[in-house]
Amino acid sequence: MRKSLVFAGVLAAGGLAMIAGKPMAQDATRSVWDGVYTEAQAQRGQAAYAQSCGLCHGVGLTGLGEAKPLTGPEFLSNWNGLTMADLFDRTRTTMPLNKPRSLTKEQYADVLAYLLKFDGFPAGQSELPARSEMLAGVTIDAFKPSAALSVTGASADAAAIVADPNGAPNAYAADPGFFKLPAGRTMGSTSAVATDSRGHIWIAERCGANNCAGSKLDPILEFDANGGFIKAFGAGMLLFPHGLFVDAKDHIWLTDGHSDGTKGAQVFEFDTTGKLLRTLGKAGVSAEGPDTFTEPNAVLVTKDGTIFVADGHTPNKGAARIVKFDKSGKFLKQWGGHGAGPGQLEVPHTLAMDSKGRLFVGDRWNNRIQVFDQEGKLLATWDQFGRPSGMFIDRSDVLYVADSESRNPEGYGHHPGWARGIRIGSAKTGAVTAFIRDTEPNPDKAATSGAEGVWADRHGVIYGAQVQQKTVVRYTRAH
Ligand code: HEC
Repeated sequence: MRKSLVFAGVLAAGGLAMIAGKPMAQDATRSVWDGVYTEAQAQRGQAAYAQSCGLCHGVGLTGLGEAKPLTGPEFLSNWNGLTMADLFDRTRTTMPLNKPRSLTKEQYADVLAYLLKFDGFPAGQSELPARSEMLAGVTIDAFKPSAALSVTGASADAAAIVADPNGAPNAYAADPGFFKLPAGRTMGSTSAVATDSRGHIWIAERCGANNCAGSKLDPILEFDANGGFIKAFGAGMLLFPHGLFVDAKDHIWLTDGHSDGTKGAQVFEFDTTGKLLRTLGKAGVSAEGPDTFTEPNAVLVTKDGTIFVADGHTPNKGAARIVKFDKSGKFLKQWGGHGAGPGQLEVPHTLAMDSKGRLFVGDRWNNRIQVFDQEGKLLATWDQFGRPSGMFIDRSDVLYVADSESRNPEGYGHHPGWARGIRIGSAKTGAVTAFIRDTEPNPDKAATSGAEGVWADRHGVIYGAQVQQKTVVRYTRAH
Protein backbone atom coordinates (compact mmCIF):
# COMPACT_ATOMS: atom_id res chain seq x y z
CA MET A 1 0.00 0.00 0.00
CA ARG A 2 0.96 3.63 0.30
CA LYS A 3 3.40 3.03 3.11
CA SER A 4 5.69 0.88 1.04
CA LEU A 5 5.48 3.39 -1.78
CA VAL A 6 6.64 6.13 0.53
CA PHE A 7 9.44 3.96 1.77
CA ALA A 8 10.55 3.04 -1.74
CA GLY A 9 10.48 6.72 -2.59
CA VAL A 10 12.72 7.53 0.30
CA LEU A 11 15.20 4.87 -0.71
CA ALA A 12 15.15 5.79 -4.37
CA ALA A 13 15.56 9.47 -3.74
CA GLY A 14 18.37 9.04 -1.22
CA GLY A 15 22.07 8.72 -1.96
CA LEU A 16 23.33 7.54 -5.33
CA ALA A 17 19.91 6.86 -6.81
CA MET A 18 19.24 10.56 -6.61
CA ILE A 19 22.16 11.33 -8.85
CA ALA A 20 20.86 8.88 -11.42
CA GLY A 21 17.21 9.85 -11.19
CA LYS A 22 17.27 13.65 -10.95
CA PRO A 23 18.38 16.39 -13.25
CA MET A 24 21.27 17.57 -11.11
CA ALA A 25 20.67 21.22 -11.94
CA GLN A 26 22.51 22.23 -8.80
CA ASP A 27 24.50 20.46 -6.20
CA ALA A 28 22.71 20.28 -2.90
CA THR A 29 24.92 22.89 -1.33
CA ARG A 30 22.45 24.48 1.02
CA SER A 31 20.38 22.94 3.76
CA VAL A 32 17.18 23.82 5.58
CA TRP A 33 19.39 25.36 8.28
CA ASP A 34 20.54 28.15 5.97
CA GLY A 35 17.44 30.35 6.14
CA VAL A 36 15.79 29.17 2.92
CA TYR A 37 12.35 30.77 3.41
CA THR A 38 11.00 34.04 4.80
CA GLU A 39 8.74 34.77 7.76
CA ALA A 40 6.12 36.31 5.46
CA GLN A 41 6.12 33.21 3.31
CA ALA A 42 5.67 30.93 6.31
CA GLN A 43 2.72 33.06 7.39
CA ARG A 44 1.07 32.71 4.00
CA GLY A 45 1.85 29.02 4.21
CA GLN A 46 0.16 28.76 7.58
CA ALA A 47 -3.07 30.11 6.10
CA ALA A 48 -2.85 27.78 3.10
CA TYR A 49 -2.11 24.87 5.43
CA ALA A 50 -5.15 25.64 7.58
CA GLN A 51 -7.31 25.73 4.47
CA SER A 52 -6.00 22.71 2.56
CA CYS A 53 -4.10 20.39 4.90
CA GLY A 54 -5.11 20.93 8.52
CA LEU A 55 -8.32 18.97 8.26
CA CYS A 56 -6.39 15.74 7.75
CA HIS A 57 -2.96 16.47 9.26
CA GLY A 58 -4.28 18.32 12.31
CA VAL A 59 -3.83 21.85 13.61
CA GLY A 60 -0.61 20.95 15.39
CA LEU A 61 0.72 19.11 12.29
CA THR A 62 0.87 15.98 14.42
CA GLY A 63 -1.19 13.90 12.02
CA LEU A 64 -4.63 12.39 12.41
CA GLY A 65 -5.32 8.74 11.73
CA GLU A 66 -3.74 7.74 8.41
CA ALA A 67 -2.59 11.27 7.65
CA LYS A 68 0.95 11.30 8.90
CA PRO A 69 2.55 13.86 11.16
CA LEU A 70 4.26 16.67 9.25
CA THR A 71 6.44 17.48 12.24
CA GLY A 72 8.46 15.65 14.87
CA PRO A 73 10.72 12.61 14.80
CA GLU A 74 8.75 10.40 12.42
CA PHE A 75 8.45 13.12 9.80
CA LEU A 76 12.03 14.30 10.16
CA SER A 77 13.50 10.84 9.94
CA ASN A 78 11.37 10.09 6.86
CA TRP A 79 12.80 13.07 5.03
CA ASN A 80 16.25 13.44 6.54
CA GLY A 81 18.89 13.38 3.78
CA LEU A 82 16.44 14.07 0.95
CA THR A 83 15.98 17.47 -0.68
CA MET A 84 13.21 20.05 -0.60
CA ALA A 85 12.52 19.10 -4.22
CA ASP A 86 11.62 15.59 -3.09
CA LEU A 87 9.22 16.96 -0.51
CA PHE A 88 7.82 19.54 -2.93
CA ASP A 89 7.17 17.01 -5.69
CA ARG A 90 5.73 14.45 -3.32
CA THR A 91 3.40 16.99 -1.77
CA ARG A 92 2.33 18.62 -5.02
CA THR A 93 1.61 15.38 -6.87
CA THR A 94 -0.20 13.57 -4.04
CA MET A 95 -1.60 16.20 -1.63
CA PRO A 96 -4.24 17.17 -0.63
CA LEU A 97 -5.05 13.48 -0.81
CA ASN A 98 -8.51 14.20 -2.19
CA LYS A 99 -7.32 16.86 -4.67
CA PRO A 100 -3.66 16.68 -5.69
CA ARG A 101 -2.16 19.67 -7.55
CA SER A 102 -5.11 21.85 -6.52
CA LEU A 103 -2.87 24.57 -5.09
CA THR A 104 -0.53 26.75 -7.12
CA LYS A 105 3.17 25.88 -7.06
CA GLU A 106 3.77 29.01 -5.03
CA GLN A 107 1.20 27.90 -2.47
CA TYR A 108 2.89 24.52 -2.12
CA ALA A 109 6.18 26.31 -1.54
CA ASP A 110 4.48 28.52 1.06
CA VAL A 111 3.10 25.50 2.91
CA LEU A 112 6.55 23.90 2.96
CA ALA A 113 7.96 27.17 4.34
CA TYR A 114 5.43 26.91 7.14
CA LEU A 115 6.44 23.29 7.83
CA LEU A 116 10.09 24.36 8.03
CA LYS A 117 9.25 27.14 10.43
CA PHE A 118 7.13 24.82 12.56
CA ASP A 119 9.99 22.35 12.79
CA GLY A 120 12.36 25.02 14.07
CA PHE A 121 14.41 25.69 10.93
CA PRO A 122 15.40 29.37 10.75
CA ALA A 123 13.83 31.89 8.37
CA GLY A 124 16.08 33.93 6.06
CA GLN A 125 16.03 36.73 3.49
CA SER A 126 14.79 34.96 0.38
CA GLU A 127 11.71 32.88 -0.25
CA LEU A 128 11.64 29.17 -0.81
CA PRO A 129 11.40 28.85 -4.59
CA ALA A 130 8.47 27.06 -6.21
CA ARG A 131 10.60 25.12 -8.69
CA SER A 132 11.95 21.63 -8.21
CA GLU A 133 15.23 22.36 -10.03
CA MET A 134 16.04 25.01 -7.46
CA LEU A 135 14.68 23.12 -4.49
CA ALA A 136 16.95 20.21 -5.40
CA GLY A 137 19.76 22.39 -4.09
CA VAL A 138 18.37 22.40 -0.54
CA THR A 139 18.90 19.28 1.56
CA ILE A 140 16.65 18.36 4.43
CA ASP A 141 19.09 17.95 7.27
CA ALA A 142 16.98 17.10 10.26
CA PHE A 143 19.89 17.86 12.55
CA LYS A 144 22.05 20.96 12.40
CA PRO A 145 25.33 19.76 10.91
CA SER A 146 27.79 22.38 12.14
CA ALA A 147 26.62 21.94 15.73
CA ALA A 148 28.67 18.77 15.97
CA LEU A 149 31.72 21.01 16.29
CA SER A 150 30.44 22.76 19.38
CA VAL A 151 29.69 19.50 21.12
CA THR A 152 33.11 19.20 22.64
CA GLY A 153 32.70 22.50 24.41
CA ALA A 154 29.20 21.73 25.59
CA SER A 155 30.04 18.30 26.89
CA ALA A 156 33.13 19.64 28.60
CA ASP A 157 30.81 21.97 30.52
CA ALA A 158 28.44 19.12 31.24
CA ALA A 159 31.38 17.04 32.39
CA ALA A 160 32.08 19.55 35.09
CA ILE A 161 28.61 18.99 36.51
CA VAL A 162 28.07 15.26 35.97
CA ALA A 163 31.17 13.08 36.03
CA ASP A 164 30.20 11.04 32.95
CA PRO A 165 26.51 10.84 32.05
CA ASN A 166 27.10 7.51 30.32
CA GLY A 167 29.66 6.11 32.72
CA ALA A 168 27.58 3.86 34.99
CA PRO A 169 28.30 0.15 34.47
CA ASN A 170 25.93 -2.18 32.65
CA ALA A 171 25.24 -5.32 34.66
CA TYR A 172 22.45 -6.56 32.40
CA ALA A 173 22.11 -9.11 29.61
CA ALA A 174 19.58 -8.37 26.84
CA ASP A 175 17.11 -10.85 25.35
CA PRO A 176 15.45 -9.29 22.30
CA GLY A 177 13.60 -12.48 21.30
CA PHE A 178 11.78 -13.25 24.54
CA PHE A 179 8.19 -12.67 23.46
CA LYS A 180 6.51 -15.25 21.24
CA LEU A 181 3.82 -13.63 19.15
CA PRO A 182 0.98 -15.62 17.61
CA ALA A 183 1.69 -16.95 14.09
CA GLY A 184 1.47 -14.26 11.44
CA ARG A 185 1.58 -11.42 13.95
CA THR A 186 4.52 -9.02 14.23
CA MET A 187 5.21 -6.44 16.89
CA GLY A 188 4.59 -2.84 15.91
CA SER A 189 6.12 0.25 17.43
CA THR A 190 5.63 0.25 21.16
CA SER A 191 6.23 2.59 24.06
CA ALA A 192 4.06 0.66 26.48
CA VAL A 193 5.01 -2.29 28.66
CA ALA A 194 4.07 -3.24 32.23
CA THR A 195 3.82 -6.33 34.42
CA ASP A 196 1.02 -7.37 36.75
CA SER A 197 1.06 -9.03 40.18
CA ARG A 198 1.19 -12.51 38.60
CA GLY A 199 4.29 -11.62 36.63
CA HIS A 200 2.39 -11.48 33.36
CA ILE A 201 3.67 -8.93 30.89
CA TRP A 202 1.32 -6.50 29.15
CA ILE A 203 2.37 -4.76 25.95
CA ALA A 204 0.38 -2.21 23.97
CA GLU A 205 1.81 -1.99 20.46
CA ARG A 206 0.71 -0.07 17.40
CA CYS A 207 -0.92 -2.85 15.40
CA GLY A 208 2.18 -4.20 13.68
CA ALA A 209 2.91 -0.67 12.44
CA ASN A 210 3.28 2.71 14.14
CA ASN A 211 -0.44 3.46 14.14
CA CYS A 212 -3.63 1.45 14.68
CA ALA A 213 -5.89 3.64 12.53
CA GLY A 214 -7.87 1.38 10.20
CA SER A 215 -6.32 -1.80 11.61
CA LYS A 216 -8.32 -4.83 12.73
CA LEU A 217 -5.51 -6.14 14.92
CA ASP A 218 -5.68 -6.30 18.72
CA PRO A 219 -3.01 -3.94 20.09
CA ILE A 220 -3.09 -4.95 23.79
CA LEU A 221 -1.18 -8.19 24.32
CA GLU A 222 -0.79 -10.35 27.41
CA PHE A 223 2.18 -12.71 27.87
CA ASP A 224 3.01 -15.16 30.64
CA ALA A 225 6.21 -14.87 32.65
CA ASN A 226 8.02 -17.02 30.07
CA GLY A 227 7.10 -14.81 27.15
CA GLY A 228 4.32 -17.13 25.93
CA PHE A 229 1.38 -15.39 24.32
CA ILE A 230 -1.88 -15.54 26.27
CA LYS A 231 -4.34 -13.22 24.61
CA ALA A 232 -4.91 -9.91 22.88
CA PHE A 233 -7.73 -7.42 22.75
CA GLY A 234 -8.61 -3.83 21.89
CA ALA A 235 -9.10 -4.01 18.10
CA GLY A 236 -10.74 -0.91 16.67
CA MET A 237 -10.64 0.98 19.98
CA LEU A 238 -7.30 2.77 19.73
CA LEU A 239 -5.33 4.87 17.29
CA PHE A 240 -1.97 5.29 18.97
CA PRO A 241 -1.41 3.31 22.19
CA HIS A 242 1.12 5.33 24.14
CA GLY A 243 1.34 5.02 27.93
CA LEU A 244 0.52 1.84 29.87
CA PHE A 245 0.14 1.38 33.60
CA VAL A 246 -0.90 -1.59 35.74
CA ASP A 247 -2.43 -0.48 39.05
CA ALA A 248 -2.59 -2.17 42.46
CA LYS A 249 -5.76 -4.02 41.41
CA ASP A 250 -4.07 -5.32 38.25
CA HIS A 251 -6.20 -3.05 36.11
CA ILE A 252 -4.65 -2.15 32.77
CA TRP A 253 -4.62 1.59 32.06
CA LEU A 254 -3.73 2.87 28.63
CA THR A 255 -3.58 6.26 26.92
CA ASP A 256 -4.35 6.88 23.27
CA GLY A 257 -2.19 9.78 22.11
CA HIS A 258 -3.84 10.51 18.78
CA SER A 259 -7.40 11.51 17.90
CA ASP A 260 -9.35 11.57 14.66
CA GLY A 261 -12.65 13.22 15.55
CA THR A 262 -14.38 9.96 16.42
CA LYS A 263 -11.86 8.20 18.63
CA GLY A 264 -8.66 8.82 20.50
CA ALA A 265 -7.35 11.34 23.06
CA GLN A 266 -8.64 9.11 25.85
CA VAL A 267 -7.51 7.06 28.81
CA PHE A 268 -8.84 3.52 29.10
CA GLU A 269 -9.14 1.23 32.11
CA PHE A 270 -9.48 -2.51 31.49
CA ASP A 271 -9.51 -5.52 33.78
CA THR A 272 -7.26 -8.46 32.97
CA THR A 273 -10.02 -10.21 31.02
CA GLY A 274 -9.99 -7.30 28.59
CA LYS A 275 -13.30 -5.87 29.78
CA LEU A 276 -13.42 -2.08 29.43
CA LEU A 277 -14.23 -0.64 32.86
CA ARG A 278 -14.19 3.05 32.06
CA THR A 279 -12.70 5.80 29.95
CA LEU A 280 -11.54 9.33 30.74
CA GLY A 281 -11.67 12.09 28.17
CA LYS A 282 -14.05 12.35 25.25
CA ALA A 283 -13.58 10.04 22.27
CA GLY A 284 -12.01 11.92 19.39
CA VAL A 285 -12.05 15.30 21.12
CA SER A 286 -8.53 16.71 21.44
CA ALA A 287 -8.80 19.71 23.76
CA GLU A 288 -7.37 20.93 27.03
CA GLY A 289 -10.28 20.68 29.44
CA PRO A 290 -11.29 19.15 32.78
CA ASP A 291 -12.86 16.20 30.95
CA THR A 292 -10.88 16.19 27.71
CA PHE A 293 -7.21 15.62 26.79
CA THR A 294 -5.14 16.89 23.89
CA GLU A 295 -2.56 14.10 23.52
CA PRO A 296 -2.49 12.02 26.71
CA ASN A 297 1.00 10.53 27.08
CA ALA A 298 0.92 8.67 30.36
CA VAL A 299 -1.39 7.64 33.18
CA LEU A 300 -0.58 6.65 36.76
CA VAL A 301 -2.97 5.43 39.44
CA THR A 302 -2.06 5.49 43.14
CA LYS A 303 -2.98 2.74 45.60
CA ASP A 304 -5.97 4.81 46.78
CA GLY A 305 -7.20 5.21 43.22
CA THR A 306 -6.16 8.81 42.53
CA ILE A 307 -5.45 9.20 38.81
CA PHE A 308 -2.73 11.34 37.24
CA VAL A 309 -2.52 11.94 33.50
CA ALA A 310 0.37 13.61 31.68
CA ASP A 311 -1.09 15.48 28.71
CA GLY A 312 0.59 17.07 25.68
CA HIS A 313 3.05 15.54 23.20
CA THR A 314 3.81 18.63 21.11
CA PRO A 315 6.32 21.27 22.21
CA ASN A 316 4.89 24.81 22.45
CA LYS A 317 1.44 23.70 21.28
CA GLY A 318 -1.66 22.23 22.87
CA ALA A 319 -1.32 21.13 26.49
CA ALA A 320 1.72 20.64 28.72
CA ARG A 321 0.10 19.63 31.96
CA ILE A 322 -0.41 17.10 34.69
CA VAL A 323 -4.10 16.46 35.38
CA LYS A 324 -5.28 15.00 38.69
CA PHE A 325 -8.58 13.13 39.17
CA ASP A 326 -10.06 11.47 42.22
CA LYS A 327 -10.81 7.75 42.18
CA SER A 328 -14.25 8.33 40.69
CA GLY A 329 -12.64 10.18 37.77
CA LYS A 330 -13.67 13.63 38.96
CA PHE A 331 -11.29 16.41 37.88
CA LEU A 332 -9.43 17.85 40.87
CA LYS A 333 -6.68 20.08 39.49
CA GLN A 334 -3.99 20.52 36.90
CA TRP A 335 -0.54 22.10 36.81
CA GLY A 336 2.40 22.73 34.51
CA GLY A 337 2.03 24.89 31.42
CA HIS A 338 4.51 25.32 28.58
CA GLY A 339 8.04 26.42 29.36
CA ALA A 340 11.36 25.45 30.87
CA GLY A 341 11.01 27.26 34.19
CA PRO A 342 10.59 25.50 37.53
CA GLY A 343 7.33 23.52 37.47
CA GLN A 344 6.70 24.25 33.81
CA LEU A 345 6.61 21.38 31.35
CA GLU A 346 7.37 20.71 27.72
CA VAL A 347 6.17 17.28 26.58
CA PRO A 348 5.46 15.59 29.93
CA HIS A 349 6.02 12.13 28.47
CA THR A 350 6.04 9.75 31.42
CA LEU A 351 5.02 9.37 35.09
CA ALA A 352 6.23 7.33 38.06
CA MET A 353 5.67 7.40 41.81
CA ASP A 354 8.01 6.52 44.66
CA SER A 355 7.14 4.88 48.00
CA LYS A 356 6.65 8.29 49.61
CA GLY A 357 4.00 9.20 47.06
CA ARG A 358 6.18 11.72 45.20
CA LEU A 359 5.14 12.06 41.56
CA PHE A 360 8.03 11.91 39.07
CA VAL A 361 7.29 13.63 35.77
CA GLY A 362 9.50 12.98 32.75
CA ASP A 363 9.73 16.50 31.30
CA ARG A 364 11.20 15.24 28.06
CA TRP A 365 11.68 18.34 25.94
CA ASN A 366 13.47 19.96 28.90
CA ASN A 367 15.78 16.96 29.37
CA ARG A 368 14.84 16.61 33.02
CA ILE A 369 12.73 14.87 35.61
CA GLN A 370 10.67 17.07 37.89
CA VAL A 371 9.54 15.61 41.18
CA PHE A 372 6.24 16.96 42.59
CA ASP A 373 4.07 16.27 45.58
CA GLN A 374 0.57 15.15 44.72
CA GLU A 375 -0.71 18.72 44.87
CA GLY A 376 1.71 19.88 42.19
CA LYS A 377 4.34 21.47 44.43
CA LEU A 378 7.80 21.14 42.90
CA LEU A 379 10.18 19.24 45.19
CA ALA A 380 13.21 18.50 43.03
CA THR A 381 14.60 18.67 39.48
CA TRP A 382 16.94 15.93 38.25
CA ASP A 383 18.86 15.80 35.02
CA GLN A 384 21.24 12.94 35.78
CA PHE A 385 18.90 10.28 34.32
CA GLY A 386 18.98 11.70 30.78
CA ARG A 387 16.13 12.77 28.54
CA PRO A 388 13.17 10.82 29.92
CA SER A 389 10.80 9.05 27.53
CA GLY A 390 9.79 6.34 30.00
CA MET A 391 10.09 5.87 33.76
CA PHE A 392 9.29 3.28 36.38
CA ILE A 393 9.90 3.08 40.14
CA ASP A 394 9.80 -0.34 41.79
CA ARG A 395 8.83 -1.33 45.35
CA SER A 396 12.37 -0.68 46.58
CA ASP A 397 12.46 2.80 45.11
CA VAL A 398 14.74 1.80 42.27
CA LEU A 399 14.19 4.28 39.44
CA TYR A 400 14.43 3.15 35.81
CA VAL A 401 14.55 5.86 33.14
CA ALA A 402 14.51 5.24 29.37
CA ASP A 403 16.18 7.85 27.17
CA SER A 404 15.29 7.24 23.51
CA GLU A 405 16.08 10.64 22.04
CA SER A 406 19.28 12.31 23.24
CA ARG A 407 21.35 13.56 20.32
CA ASN A 408 24.47 15.70 19.97
CA PRO A 409 23.56 18.06 17.11
CA GLU A 410 21.14 20.93 17.49
CA GLY A 411 17.54 20.25 16.52
CA TYR A 412 15.22 17.55 17.74
CA GLY A 413 16.45 15.75 20.86
CA HIS A 414 19.39 18.12 21.41
CA HIS A 415 21.20 16.85 24.50
CA PRO A 416 24.90 16.79 23.76
CA GLY A 417 27.09 14.24 25.45
CA TRP A 418 24.26 12.00 26.57
CA ALA A 419 23.93 8.48 25.18
CA ARG A 420 20.55 6.80 24.87
CA GLY A 421 19.58 3.84 26.96
CA ILE A 422 18.08 2.89 30.31
CA ARG A 423 19.60 4.52 33.42
CA ILE A 424 18.95 2.80 36.71
CA GLY A 425 19.42 4.35 40.13
CA SER A 426 17.79 5.47 43.33
CA ALA A 427 14.55 7.42 43.49
CA LYS A 428 15.60 8.33 47.05
CA THR A 429 19.07 9.74 46.55
CA GLY A 430 19.06 10.37 42.80
CA ALA A 431 22.28 8.41 42.29
CA VAL A 432 22.61 6.61 38.93
CA THR A 433 24.14 3.17 39.43
CA ALA A 434 23.72 1.34 36.12
CA PHE A 435 23.31 2.18 32.46
CA ILE A 436 22.09 -0.13 29.69
CA ARG A 437 23.23 1.63 26.57
CA ASP A 438 21.02 1.55 23.47
CA THR A 439 22.44 -0.42 20.55
CA GLU A 440 21.56 2.00 17.71
CA PRO A 441 24.95 2.61 16.01
CA ASN A 442 24.20 6.14 14.83
CA PRO A 443 21.77 7.83 17.20
CA ASP A 444 22.57 11.31 15.86
CA LYS A 445 20.84 10.29 12.62
CA ALA A 446 17.75 8.74 14.24
CA ALA A 447 15.20 10.81 16.10
CA THR A 448 14.29 7.89 18.35
CA SER A 449 15.81 4.52 19.20
CA GLY A 450 15.90 2.10 22.08
CA ALA A 451 13.39 1.89 24.89
CA GLU A 452 10.69 4.56 25.20
CA GLY A 453 8.64 2.60 27.69
CA VAL A 454 10.23 0.85 30.65
CA TRP A 455 8.99 -1.35 33.51
CA ALA A 456 10.60 -3.76 35.96
CA ASP A 457 8.94 -6.77 37.56
CA ARG A 458 9.26 -7.74 41.22
CA HIS A 459 12.47 -9.68 40.52
CA GLY A 460 14.17 -6.70 38.94
CA VAL A 461 13.78 -7.99 35.38
CA ILE A 462 13.51 -4.97 33.08
CA TYR A 463 11.40 -4.62 29.95
CA GLY A 464 12.09 -1.89 27.39
CA ALA A 465 9.46 -1.07 24.74
CA GLN A 466 10.97 0.29 21.53
CA VAL A 467 9.24 2.47 18.95
CA GLN A 468 11.95 2.48 16.30
CA GLN A 469 13.05 -1.15 16.52
CA LYS A 470 9.44 -2.36 17.02
CA THR A 471 10.24 -4.76 19.81
CA VAL A 472 10.23 -5.25 23.57
CA VAL A 473 13.60 -6.31 24.95
CA ARG A 474 13.97 -8.15 28.26
CA TYR A 475 16.98 -7.41 30.47
CA THR A 476 18.15 -9.61 33.32
CA ARG A 477 21.06 -9.13 35.67
CA ALA A 478 24.07 -10.82 34.14
CA HIS A 479 24.87 -12.53 37.48
C1 HEC B 1 -7.93 14.32 2.76
C2 HEC B 1 -6.85 14.19 3.75
C3 HEC B 1 -5.53 14.87 3.46
C4 HEC B 1 -5.33 16.19 3.10
C5 HEC B 1 -6.37 17.28 2.90
C6 HEC B 1 -3.91 16.34 3.02
N1 HEC B 1 -3.26 15.18 3.29
FE1 HEC B 1 -1.26 14.86 3.31
N2 HEC B 1 -1.55 12.87 3.73
C7 HEC B 1 -2.78 12.31 3.92
C8 HEC B 1 -2.60 10.88 4.15
C9 HEC B 1 -3.72 9.87 4.44
C10 HEC B 1 -1.22 10.63 4.09
C11 HEC B 1 -0.53 9.29 4.24
C12 HEC B 1 -0.70 8.49 3.00
C13 HEC B 1 0.32 8.88 2.01
O1 HEC B 1 1.49 8.89 2.39
O2 HEC B 1 -0.04 9.18 0.87
C14 HEC B 1 -0.58 11.91 3.82
C15 HEC B 1 0.79 12.09 3.66
C16 HEC B 1 1.40 13.31 3.48
C17 HEC B 1 2.82 13.53 3.39
C18 HEC B 1 3.89 12.48 3.52
C19 HEC B 1 4.39 12.45 4.92
C20 HEC B 1 5.59 11.56 5.12
O3 HEC B 1 6.30 11.76 6.08
O4 HEC B 1 5.83 10.65 4.31
C21 HEC B 1 3.02 14.86 3.23
C22 HEC B 1 4.35 15.57 3.12
C23 HEC B 1 1.73 15.48 3.20
N3 HEC B 1 0.76 14.50 3.36
C24 HEC B 1 1.52 16.84 3.05
C25 HEC B 1 0.27 17.43 2.89
C26 HEC B 1 0.08 18.82 2.65
C27 HEC B 1 1.20 19.84 2.56
C28 HEC B 1 -1.26 19.02 2.51
C29 HEC B 1 -1.96 20.30 2.16
C30 HEC B 1 -1.57 20.92 0.93
C31 HEC B 1 -1.90 17.73 2.72
N4 HEC B 1 -0.94 16.80 2.95
C32 HEC B 1 -3.28 17.54 2.69
C33 HEC B 1 -4.01 12.93 3.91
C34 HEC B 1 -4.23 14.25 3.56
